[in-house]
Order: sequence, then structure tokens, then C-alpha cells
Amino acid sequence: MTAKTILVLGGTGKTGRRVAAQLTERGHTARVASRSAPTRFDWNDDTTWPAALGGAEAVYIVPDDAGPLTQFESFVGLATREGVRRLVLLSAREWIQLGHPAATAREDIVRRSGVAWTLLRPVWFAQNFSEEPFLADEVREGAVRYGTGDGRHPFIDAEDIAAVAVAALTEDGHDGRVYPLSGPRALSIPEALDMIAATTGRTISRVSVPLDEYERHLTDRYYPAGAARAVTGLHELVRQHADDHLSDGVRQALGREPRDFADYVATTAAAGGWG
Ligand SMILES: NC(=O)c1ccc[n+]([C@@H]2O[C@H](COP(=O)([O-])OP(=O)(O)OC[C@H]3O[C@@H](n4cnc5c(N)ncnc54)[C@H](OP(=O)(O)O)[C@@H]3O)[C@@H](O)[C@H]2O)c1
Repeated sequence: MTAKTILVLGGTGKTGRRVAAQLTERGHTARVASRSAPTRFDWNDDTTWPAALGGAEAVYIVPDDAGPLTQFESFVGLATREGVRRLVLLSAREWIQLGHPAATAREDIVRRSGVAWTLLRPVWFAQNFSEEPFLADEVREGAVRYGTGDGRHPFIDAEDIAAVAVAALTEDGHDGRVYPLSGPRALSIPEALDMIAATTGRTISRVSVPLDEYERHLTDRYYPAGAARAVTGLHELVRQHADDHLSDGVRQALGREPRDFADYVATTAAAGGWG
């Protein structure tokens, strides 16, 4: 194996940090980049882009969902001019299912980049329950509000997303592939909370609220209005039982089954993830 230098955008986030760790375990050089990372990279400041890209053979792209497409297109253009040979884009199964114009356009820009590319379309990360404030804070507080009703969702472990990304960044056979990624079974939010409660011994109350109330809750506590609307749209999809199907991208890319939510809960609890 030849060791590669790989730029990991969103390198401090839920998938990027795991991509970097798995690359390092395999002997590659992961250049961890974000606004707060050792390599400073800001989507909104293109003067930070050239140094981050210099000498990198491949890039794991965690996009800025709120950023303009022109910015994304400029970055991809610069990356290819700087000699990057592979791009792996973190997209999202739900954005594509909902026909989200920016998410679709970002995928198209990567497809047209002229270098090898792979698109990852994960569902919601299991790690949202431990690392994303709108769920994790409430799990820790022991009182969760949710808008998904009794709809189920096949949460995927971010470790599996990272494993697929690392394969696509470092091995042949993934060029031009689109991997929809889900876990092995769909769970409702109450079912997922029951598993966390049983493993951690915590009491976690939960309240199912209508979507308009849920959106207000997100705006009051976590997100600007546009982002709150987008997250509520995802809750609506689950509530309509339109987002409980499984996707086999982990098996396609890695030849094995994805990790079960119970494994995520056990690992996270053992690491003190819920305090
Ligand atoms: N969470 C899910 O369940 C889920 C599911 C499917 C797809 N996705 C997609 O995954 C992507 C990441 O979302 P996430 O919520 O999971 O976040 P995340 O990757 O956990 O965190 C965001 C990362 O991006 C960096 N970042 C934020 N703003 C930036 C900027 N202006 N310039 C450079 N880096 C910036 C952050 O670091 P700094 O703050 O240090 O910059 C952090 O490393 C999004 O495109 C989302 O649509 C998420």
C-alpha cells in the first residue's frame, strides 16, 4: 500500500473525525481541516483553501449545506487544478429523496469534476443521539421532544460512513459509485431511546409533538429558521413512514453488514458518551 495524503474537510465533525482516525490507522496522512482544526479551512474564506489542498491526492468533502453553490464549485475546480485525483462527497439520502436542489447540484458538480469521484448518501447518523445538540443534549437532560411520530428510521453508525469513505479515498473500485448508506434495521425515536435508557440506566422521557411545534422548538433552542425548517422536513419524512427503507451501500462498498444501533449504544455508553 502506498501512503496517501488526504484532506479531510469537516475533520472535527461526526464523520470527518472518524475518517481521519481510520486513515491514520491505515498509515495514511489525514490532513484534518475545519475552522477550528489544525489546518484552517473555512468554506467562507477561499484564502484558506490552497494551503489545505497543497499536495493532497484525495479530499473527503463535508459541504456547508448553507453555502452558495458557486463557492462549492470554485472549491472543486481549485482542488482538481491543485492535483487532487479523487473526491468523496458526503451527501445525504434524504436530501436526494426530497429533491433538495443544492444537494443534487453539489453531487452533479462532483460528478463533472473530471477526477475519480464517489458519492455517499447516508441516512441520519446514530451519533446524532450523542453528538448533535438537538438530540444529544436532550438525551443527557432526560427529556426528548421529537417530530417523527411513530415513524421509523434506519440510523447509520458514523464509523461505517467513515469506513466507506476511507475505502473510496484509498482503494480502487469505487470510482463513479453512489452509495446509499443505512443501518441494518429501522427504529422509531422512542425505540432508540429505550435502547439507550436500558444500556445506560438513565430515565429518558419523550414527548411526540406536531411538526409546527417541533419546528418552533428547534428555532427557540438550536437552529436559525432555515435550518430548523430543513430538519423539520426530515422529521416529516420519517413521520410519514417514507424513510424507513434500508440501503445496502455498506455491503456494496465493504462486503459486510453495517453495525447495528445496539453496537453504537454499547460503544458510546462504554466510552462515557452520555456522561
Ligand atoms: N447528521 C446527520 O444525521 C446527517 C445525515 C446525513 C447527511 N448529513 C450531512 O453531513 C454534513 C455534516 O453535517 P453534520 O451535522 O453531521 O455536522 P458535522 O460533520 O458533525 O460538523 C460539521 C463540520 O464542518 C465544519 N464546519 C462547519 N462550518 C464550516 C465552515 N464554514 N467552513 C469549514 N468547515 C466548517 C465543522 O468544524 P468547525 O466548526 O471547526 O468549522 C465540523 O467539522 C452535512 O452536509 C449534512 O447534511 C448529516
